[in-house]
This record gives sequence, structure tokens and C-alpha cells, in this order.
Amino acid sequence: MEEVIARAVLLRGVCFALAVGAVTALVGCGSTSPSVVDPHSPEASHIAGLFWLMLWISVGIYALVLGFVVVSFRARHAKSDGHGTEVGEWATPSSSTASERRRSSRFIIAGGLAMPIVVLAVVGIATVRTTNAVRRGPSVVKINVEAERWWWRLTYPDNGVVSANEIHVPVGEPVELTLTSDNVIHSVWVPELNGKTDVIPGQTNHMTFTADAAGEYRGQCAEFCGIGHALMAFVVIADPPADYARWLDTNEAHAVTPSTGAAERGATFLESSSCAGCHNVAGTAAVGTFGPDLTHFGSRTTIAAVTLPNTPSNLHRWLADTQGVKRGALMPQIDLTDAQIGNLVAYLESLK
Ligand code: CUA
Repeated sequence: MEEVIARAVLLRGVCFALAVGAVTALVGCGSTSPSVVDPHSPEASHIAGLFWLMLWISVGIYALVLGFVVVSFRARHAKSDGHGTEVGEWATPSSSTASERRRSSRFIIAGGLAMPIVVLAVVGIATVRTTNAVRRGPSVVKINVEAERWWWRLTYPDNGVVSANEIHVPVGEPVELTLTSDNVIHSVWVPELNGKTDVIPGQTNHMTFTADAAGEYRGQCAEFCGIGHALMAFVVIADPPADYARWLDTNEAHAVTPSTGAAERGATFLESSSCAGCHNVAGTAAVGTFGPDLTHFGSRTTIAAVTLPNTPSNLHRWLADTQGVKRGALMPQIDLTDAQIGNLVAYLESLK
């Protein structure tokens, strides 16, 4: 019996050490995006605060329970060693056990009833305050985010900018994302900026946040939405206001005219092939809307919803082996020669 208790205490001690280790690792990972413990908006700070509150309450309760287990183990051990009641036996009723029972009852009421009420009340109040803090608020910058399979279509309705997967926002300005889907349920999650918000067909949801520092905050679709779910990422790029204004100016404009022979051949091919049926390049004959807008593709830092860094060699790989890079992608595998791919890469990378 004692061995069983000793093993249980040891096991709990190991679990406690592992929990402390996990928390340490979590904090250690805090500087790498995405991270829930490295908030960069008032909304995310509230969520992180709630997380820490619940974590430390749990650690406190765990330590307390572990302490009681140790104390009770020692008391039983002392009793079985000395002249007290043997372990496993009931004591004979007497006035001393009656007072012990009263003490036990008080202990159970305090530990089993009063303490949970206090803990749940504290956590409940903190949760309601956090829910209110992350709710939709007034905003200055409005961005429509449409969840596609498996990428993100972005529209800035006040500026006529259309983009994909990389959400530029100005630092210090309240931003509102209007979230819609015409296919299946997705979920937007940028841990540094706010909690998850589902994107549901037939319903319009909203998310507001104010980024407090320039930087790139990785986001991820947080609701299983099909084969491409794991590769349905995005990034929020918080720019200083002047950089953001420059980005808007650049992205409002039509595509640049190709300036090299290869880029010219790439443009001609794109506009006359099936690419133009799905992709738009503003100011050209490519006016498709099924796939991502490519007007300023070259200025984006990633390909295929943050699957690959946007480099000429990665773009070559994407065009040559689309399904190998992102299985299930709705962009079909098109048979292209190396020369055609080279020309397309030259053109697309020039679209800054
Ligand atoms: Cu979209 Cu998961």
C-alpha cells in the first residue's frame, strides 16, 4: 500500500516537473512567430493574460494537492510505525475522532467547495473581461478576407487593392478583417494579434486588432478544411504607416510592363494560355478571378499561401510540380516546357 502511494507521489512529482518544463519551453519559443505568449496587440495581450492567469492558478492548485498527498502519506506512515491505528483499519469512535471528523468536514467544505467557487469566479470574471476586450471594435483600416481552398483572397475596399495571403496593415491603427467563405468552414488565427475566428459560409464574421509593433506575424487556418488545410497559412505584415502608404500606392497600380525579352514572352504566354482563365493581372488580358491575383506577385514574399519563400527557383518548382509542392491545390498540373516556365518566372517575379 505504502509502495503504491510512494509511486503515486513520485509519478505526480515527475508530471509536475514535466509541466514546468513544458511551460519553460513555451516561454522559450515565445520569440518565434506564431506565439500565443508574445502578444503584439491589446487584444492578444488580454488573451495571453488570461492564459498566464489560468496557468499559474493551475500550478498553484497542483502544488497544493501534491503537498497534501505528501503530508497524508507521511501521517499514515507515522501512524503505522507508531502506536496509532493501523493503515486500512477504521478507528474506534471516540471524542478525539469526532473532533477529527469535524475538522475533516471543515477542510472538505473549504477545499472542495469554497476554493473551487473562488477559483471559478476569478477565472469566469477574467474570461468575460477578455471576451469583451477581443470583441469587434471601431476600426480605421478595413480588409475583406475571403477564405478559399487553400489560400486567402484579400481586398482593401477603400483602396481597390486586391492581393493574397499577405495582409499588410499599418502599425498602431485599428484594423478590421471581414471574414467570409463561399466553400467550407475555415478559421483565421494570428496568435500574436487576436484569437481564432471561424470563417463560415453564409455568415460574415469580423476580427479587429491593432498591431503595436512592425513585424511579420504568421497566421494559420485553424479549422480542418480539406486536403490543403495544413498548408493554408498567411502572414500579417505590420508596416510603419509611411511604408504601409507606399505599399498601398504600389498595389493600387496596374501591373508593370515587362522589361526583358523573357518577361515579355512570359506575359504573352500567360495572357494566351489557361493561366489567364484563373488569374488576374491588372491592365492585361488576364482577368480570371478563380485563383490569386498576380498583379503584384513579385512583391509578395511567399508562394502558395506561405508554403514556399518567393524565389525564382521555388516558383519554377511550383510551376513544374504544383501537386508535389501542395497536394490537392486547385491549380491543375499544366504541362509546360522548361523554357515556358523560365519565361513565366521572369515575368511573374518582375511584377513588383
Ligand atoms: Cu482552411 Cu483549414
